Amino acid sequence: MERFAGSRKRIIATAILGPRGCGSVAALAWLDLRPTGPKLELNMPRLIVVNREGEERTVEGDAGLSVMEVLRVNGFDELLALCGGCCSCATCHVHVDPSFAGVLPSMGEDENDLLDSSGHRDDTSRLSCQIPFSDALDGLKVRIAEED
Ligand code: FES
Repeated sequence: MERFAGSRKRIIATAILGPRGCGSVAALAWLDLRPTGPKLELNMPRLIVVNREGEERTVEGDAGLSVMEVLRVNGFDELLALCGGCCSCATCHVHVDPSFAGVLPSMGEDENDLLDSSGHRDDTSRLSCQIPFSDALDGLKVRIAEED
């Protein structure tokens, strides 16, 4: 099976890079076929998450997803996000590290109104579906809010 996977990668590499192998380093790194030299790191922004048990874990997320989506993709099922990011449920409530306040997008009226329905709102409260994740938020720390 492993041999098949390797030859399949070579076929894909030939299709992408051409038979002479000229092409982008990023494509080679993605295929992990570079024979020598340092491995190219394609870093994704990191999100530090404290769950309701108080356990902290650092995960990586795709820039362009929302913070809620990064949490869901990484298995934080206690964050229900019932409306799927439509800003109508408030079940994606998180507390955000205040040191990132200046980098976060400002809060919209709908988000503000929804957060008012939470008994656990404080100055650090945000709806994670309303925060686009990006390289600028690398290292952002969020704590999943208590369940209402
Ligand atoms: S997922 Fe429903 S408000 Fe964020």
